[in-house]
Amino acid sequence: MSEVLIQHRFQASRAGVSEVPTLFLLHGTGGNEDDLMFLRDYFGENYNYLSPRGQVLENGMPRFFKRLKEGVFDQEDLQFRTVQLRDFIINTASIYGFDKKKIIALGYSNGANIAGSLLLSGYREVTHAVLMHPMVPFIPKPRPVLHGKKVLITAGENDPIVSRENTRALETLLKECGAETTLSWHQSGHAMAQEELEQAVSFVHTL
Ligand code: MLT
Repeated sequence: MSEVLIQHRFQASRAGVSEVPTLFLLHGTGGNEDDLMFLRDYFGENYNYLSPRGQVLENGMPRFFKRLKEGVFDQEDLQFRTVQLRDFIINTASIYGFDKKKIIALGYSNGANIAGSLLLSGYREVTHAVLMHPMVPFIPKPRPVLHGKKVLITAGENDPIVSRENTRALETLLKECGAETTLSWHQSGHAMAQEELEQAVSFVHTL
């Protein structure tokens, strides 16, 4: 397990840190640990918020793993960073006292891709997930068992980075693994649309 803790933000719920779910916020390329903390205004105080910074730099922009080019991922680095992020969850859970069995990953773009990687690696630490504009990070062999997990995928009909085929392939893959997966299309490009955010809030509130 890695010793150095990744830079991050943690905000505990006033409702009691070990009682409530933790929203694990994963930013897009060029973001940082502050980027998605505004989501507290949407999701409310009955959650803890944990937001790490991607540990890879691409032309000075933080990411969660290396890529060879747009949409082509460095699989070795992806695997290494996925393990590193899982270790981070375990370490921070013991530091802050949140429940590792109540973690909802919410990732956007590159953050959604590493959230997908955590799920497809079969790590139990991600209980449910919201994946905004994700791609298939890798094809797991054998398939992990994801029964009992709920995943919301939100996608842009006019996303110039993620093809509809790739989005649908991820939906199919997650369903094949047993995750209860909902795919929702929005009239948007790659940016996070307001209605997606509202849908994510409704989804998370039903978990
Ligand atoms: C990005 O710009 O971050 C890509 O769309 C997704 C990725 O590289 O993981």
